[in-house]
Amino acid sequence: MHDMPGHQIVVGVSGGIAAYKSPDLVRRLRELGHSVRVVMTPAASHFITPLTLQAVSGHPVRTDLFDPSAEAAMGHIELARWADMVLVAPATAHFLARLRQGMADDLLSTLCLATEAPVAAAPAMNRQMWLHPATQDNVSALTRRGVLLLGPDEGDQACGEIGPGRMLEPARIAGMVTERLLARGLLEGLGVLVTAGPTREPLDPVRFISNHSSGRMGYALAEAAAGAGARVTLVSGPTSLIAPARVEHVSVLTASEMRDAVMSRVGGASILIAAAAVADHRPAAYSERKIKKNGAGEAIALERTPDILAEVAGLSSRPFTVGFAAETDDIEANARSKLEAKALDLIAANRVDGPGTGFGSEDNALDVFWADGGTHLEYKPKRALAGELVALIAQHYRAAHPD
Ligand code: CTP
Repeated sequence: MHDMPGHQIVVGVSGGIAAYKSPDLVRRLRELGHSVRVVMTPAASHFITPLTLQAVSGHPVRTDLFDPSAEAAMGHIELARWADMVLVAPATAHFLARLRQGMADDLLSTLCLATEAPVAAAPAMNRQMWLHPATQDNVSALTRRGVLLLGPDEGDQACGEIGPGRMLEPARIAGMVTERLLARGLLEGLGVLVTAGPTREPLDPVRFISNHSSGRMGYALAEAAAGAGARVTLVSGPTSLIAPARVEHVSVLTASEMRDAVMSRVGGASILIAAAAVADHRPAAYSERKIKKNGAGEAIALERTPDILAEVAGLSSRPFTVGFAAETDDIEANARSKLEAKALDLIAANRVDGPGTGFGSEDNALDVFWADGGTHLEYKPKRALAGELVALIAQHYRAAHPD
């Protein structure tokens, strides 16, 4: 096995039983062309020997911050600069807590602080430990800070329990990390505007019309575009999601607020990705007072909301414009007619009829169409799918703007 030109990855191994999978992870990363240096926490050596990881990585394994001979070969700051990514797998509950606190009391935690490279972590722990509010709080803080959380998976655990907390399979981790590293720079320096989530159209102070959009696809696209080097603004309707790190987050409620937020920022955008499920209609009249059941009529008069996507696509100086379509049948014909009617550059059609697709689900598949072609993006987690769609958008954007 040779170190082919790929990326340079520091694999950090912390002390959990899933460390037995780390040699396989290192092997798979090298098969994908990456160079790997392994750093272990002192506790990790209770589960796996440095010698094993040295054999699979092809380089001495470092465990100690204060090792004069290792520091002479490649100092820890040099190692932090060498890395294109620091990938901690497994990341124990304890390691996540230390990372969140910014501790620098061993080589791996020090590296995570000293590097400018992205830090990714594949959590692995007992399900109660994963679900504990302290861990969840640490994970939210780390996500906001830009740490790329990979997993965990659900299923049988080494402790005999079943639930979330298993480390993702090494092949999946290696694939996700590679995708992220390949995406770097695809949208470097470009402004990308993403709309996400539902909108809420109020009827009176307590009632509104809305839909089931979770916002997951839009948030994942914002995250993927930021990972690809774009300056991202995420204009979002109400969701329960945390805005990705390094993304400007603008919260709105109604279609009309979303329209204003988009139109005032579209001048700085090279690309618009309209993933929001904007309500197509709103109550024609808003009642300042709560409508009483006895005073209400049988019908609510509705009017159309502004079509944000069509308005942006109609601008004389417009960004590369990507729309979404939620379809239950005749996917291609319906998506293509929207592509043409709104004069879009690209449209991503979402099946919303099947189980486990579309609104609210964690996974999805997309059919993407453009004027003279199309492709199918396979069913997978929305974050992985978002990475693929962003790469496709970048490819089409570059083809349209060859400079
Ligand atoms: N969109 C928008 N503003 C609206 C409505 C939709 O920007 N007022 C955008 C969505 O973000 C999405 C695309 O337009 O990118 C969806 O188009 P639309 O024609 O609304 O699709 P459907 O809701 O699927 O339409 P239909 O009910 O006609 O199938």
